[in-house]
Amino acid sequence: MRVLQVCAEIFPLLKTGGLADVAGALPAALAAQGARVRVLLPGFPAILAGLEGARPLARLAAPAALAPVEARLLFGRLPACGVEAYVIDAPAFYRRAGGPYADAHHQPYADNHLRFALLGWAAARLADGLDTSWAPDVVHCHDWHAGLAPACLHAEAERRGRAMPPSLFTIHNLAYQGAFDAARFGELGLPAHFFSMHGVEFHGQLNFMKAGLYYADRISTVSPSYAREIQSYEQGCGFDGLLRSRAHDLEGILNGVDAGVWSPVADPLLPATYSADDTTGKAACKAALQRALGLKRAASAPLFCVVSRLTEQKGLHLVLDALPRLVGQGAQFALLGSGDTSLEAAFHAAAEASPAAVAVRIGYDEPFAHRLIAGSDVIMVPSHFEPCGLTQLYGLAYGTLPLVRRVGGLADTVADARLETLDTDATGFVFEPFTADALLGAVARALALYRRRADWKRVRQRGMRQHFGWDAAAARYLALYGILAPHSAA
Ligand code: ADP
Ligand code: GLC
Repeated sequence: MRVLQVCAEIFPLLKTGGLADVAGALPAALAAQGARVRVLLPGFPAILAGLEGARPLARLAAPAALAPVEARLLFGRLPACGVEAYVIDAPAFYRRAGGPYADAHHQPYADNHLRFALLGWAAARLADGLDTSWAPDVVHCHDWHAGLAPACLHAEAERRGRAMPPSLFTIHNLAYQGAFDAARFGELGLPAHFFSMHGVEFHGQLNFMKAGLYYADRISTVSPSYAREIQSYEQGCGFDGLLRSRAHDLEGILNGVDAGVWSPVADPLLPATYSADDTTGKAACKAALQRALGLKRAASAPLFCVVSRLTEQKGLHLVLDALPRLVGQGAQFALLGSGDTSLEAAFHAAAEASPAAVAVRIGYDEPFAHRLIAGSDVIMVPSHFEPCGLTQLYGLAYGTLPLVRRVGGLADTVADARLETLDTDATGFVFEPFTADALLGAVARALALYRRRADWKRVRQRGMRQHFGWDAAAARYLALYGILAPHSAA
């Protein structure tokens, strides 16, 4: 089974969120089960810098407004990701000083529709045999950035009058859709009739997410609960009707944890390593963290943390509201995050108000994320919605009990600690109403359990022994590919 993964970011070369973690881990997990996987990525500077043995494969001939853009397809290896890759070298589109989607001032690039249409067209060209030595049996597209690929595959099939390889579209976050002014549609080179309700049009706009949802042969998302939730009006972001009509083509496959990156037994980023059987090193991680953050050095003070993009999705204003009462009960709090400037300012102010108990680091810092999760007792993920969520899984692996809202992948991965579940399946703390009071209720239960050391350790050990590897997800994806391309060799 030859699979082309189409995505915009990949760990460890380029990451803005969990999508990169998935794109970085899934190819190896699929390869371990016999699939031959290659990835297709835009040639952002960090991707090009990580590409080894690159050889030009072809000039990319794209239609319409994309045609004059100088673009070549390179093929090489990304050793840091352990995968072979096609990379679109189009300097005018991708070699920019800012981020992959927005400039240094967080303004989305005005030509994003073209930048990511080229990704879609390149996928269709590869599916059509552009590389004479390798063609995919299945094209697996991730999020709106790759949403145009299934549409381009359909356009090619129509133009040539023959079938193209099937596609799977994975939703990592329905809220980011790639919506553009309708006038932009003509620049993409798709047949005119594709701009309709039965196509890439959504509420009068061009919408890349819609393109993926409508044209892909199958759809998946990153947890079973989110797969259900997005079929409801409340969580469907306007796509619930379409998703309900495609319910038989839609499934939720839970993300995993890459144990090569996130494992406290062998994490080189930690001051001390530890395991479920011997957590001595975790205490050293906590002491080092308190020192690094200027928090009061108190081994017995429960330390709560957050590692997150600071956006409305993550529900962090609930944490802000709860902070004074959390600290008032002797707990400490540390946050690593960046994003919304008003949230950044509010967390800064909270840290200034109680420097011995609250510490805030604004920015993106991969090594510090490891140290923060390892050194804390509880990781809070109070999201409004959460397709899967990875930090609660990292928390489980690192013996840092997740305190989460019962939504999406959080609901699927954390079992609430209640008296009747303490001896059976409790792994964290779960609350439901999206209010600071409900969150504080879970905090109160966390503090009560923290005082019962033996129970705490039992729950912590159970959490650390949970297995959220990529093997299960890879098997599910392979089964899906097999349905899509039944005649391909395993
Ligand atoms: P999302 O993709 O919605 O941001 P996930 O929980 O799936 O949420 O993935 C977030 C990923 O980004 C995790 O690997 C997390 O550790 C990482 N992350 C988030 N914020 C930061 C930050 N400020 N510094 C370092 N890593 C971060
Ligand atoms: C998205 C979601 C997050 C998920 C990640 C990887 O960014 O917000 O919940 O874990 O994608 O699938």
